[in-house]
Amino acid sequence: KKKRTLVQDLNDGLKGNMVVVRGRAQAIRAVGKKMAFLVVRRRGCTVQCILTVSQDLVSSQMVKFATSLTRESIIEIEGLVSLPAQPITGATQQVEIQVRKLYCVDRAAPTLPFNFDDAARSDVDIEKALQAGEQLVRVNQDTRLNYRFLDIRTPTNLGIFRLQYQIQKIFCQFLESEDFFGIHTPKTLAGSSEGGSAVFRLDYKGTPACLAQSPQLHKQLSICGDFDRVFEIGPVFRAEDSFTHRHLCEFTGLDVEMEIDEHYSEVMDIVDRLFVTMFDFLNEECSELLEVINRQYPFKPLKYLRKTLRLSFEEGIQILKEAGVEVDPLGDLSTETERKLGQLVLEKYDTEFYILYRYPLSVRPFYTMPSHDGTEYSNSFDVFIRGEEIISGGQRVHVADLLRERAQACGIDVTSKTISTYIDSFRYGTAPHGGFGVGLERVVMLFCALNNIRKTSLFPRDPQRIVP
Ligand code: 4AD
Repeated sequence: KKKRTLVQDLNDGLKGNMVVVRGRAQAIRAVGKKMAFLVVRRRGCTVQCILTVSQDLVSSQMVKFATSLTRESIIEIEGLVSLPAQPITGATQQVEIQVRKLYCVDRAAPTLPFNFDDAARSDVDIEKALQAGEQLVRVNQDTRLNYRFLDIRTPTNLGIFRLQYQIQKIFCQFLESEDFFGIHTPKTLAGSSEGGSAVFRLDYKGTPACLAQSPQLHKQLSICGDFDRVFEIGPVFRAEDSFTHRHLCEFTGLDVEMEIDEHYSEVMDIVDRLFVTMFDFLNEECSELLEVINRQYPFKPLKYLRKTLRLSFEEGIQILKEAGVEVDPLGDLSTETERKLGQLVLEKYDTEFYILYRYPLSVRPFYTMPSHDGTEYSNSFDVFIRGEEIISGGQRVHVADLLRERAQACGIDVTSKTISTYIDSFRYGTAPHGGFGVGLERVVMLFCALNNIRKTSLFPRDPQRIVP
């Protein structure tokens, strides 16, 4: 069996070597009847391959076969690595392959659902091309998503999902280094989850049930066990009605729950160090991925401080007030107000990443610990990137009677099996604890300043889409 070389590994050090390369035929061009050029793509890298008719090496039938290939077919090439006479512009690798053998492993249909080249171009590039009178079709998002398997063949999309994986990896590595371990909580719950958002209802063998809107209840139940520091990466379901740039009906939640020694600022300390470590890693170790994404979707690097800025909700309100934005001091912030505050914080503190803590109790879920000073605030926080929320978290009520009282005050059905079991679990000794939930797709979207969360979800589910 011949050893294959990956396109990304082709370099001038291999000059004169015979290599076997498998990939997709991204471009096919005939030059008369005696020559053909193929651009082969694998993992977002491309190499130019040349067929030239010569008596004993390449037949004219072979050139004909090459030019009859359909774009995006999987092909395998055996050939000699050579250095081009001039720099290559149409491929990422700066070597060529003089083809000796060519196989079609799997032929693609003759027409693609959308123009693959156009789908990989930046908006600026498309604008320029249109002005120059080039014929091209702007590929709209719905078409891309209908054929998502094709859409994710663009180097940009490959970059986005590799970056997403790096974020998950850092999340696990960092938490492990802080003595957390990973768990998996159930995604099917009896009754109606924790309240606050709409849930997908289902029939669980005759019992009314729903898909978990977050791992909240069970990550806390594991703290009621002897698991004092846990995290989870798993699917989260929201029967969202809002069709927006940042809401999905299914997303990936990165969740953390931990025992608190004295103050919920310990939870914010974890957020702070986790994200500074993550952003440093992405900037330092993933620069190639960021460059690829940047080429199609240009963005400025995220501004963040070595020690994450923490503002109290009251300070936030004050900053808004000084800028002439009046908001209810005990209400929630609207999406626009959050954005505005993000801009003001950037001007004032030169950061696009910050924590807003001590939210009014009335806008937080029933399990949130009220402020210990008897005010109308709570031990909770949200975290923002570029003015949009990526995390919510806080300290939880770990005293059963207070929890029941809070649930009732929030209109939660305390007779439901899931909720009553949850509340009663706190009767057997539980340490003070807190945690947070992060939306993975939002982190990727906002770190790269992308305009839509569907770009960072592999096969997005939104109020109007459950296919493919
Ligand atoms: O703010 P949420 O709803 O908080 C919870 O689920 C709590 N149980 C977390 C906790 O530990 N206190 O969701 C947490 C995060 C949000 O900050 C956001 O990043 C993301 O999940 N998120 C969504 N992402 C995509 N689509 C949606 N519909 C989202 N809803 C929330």
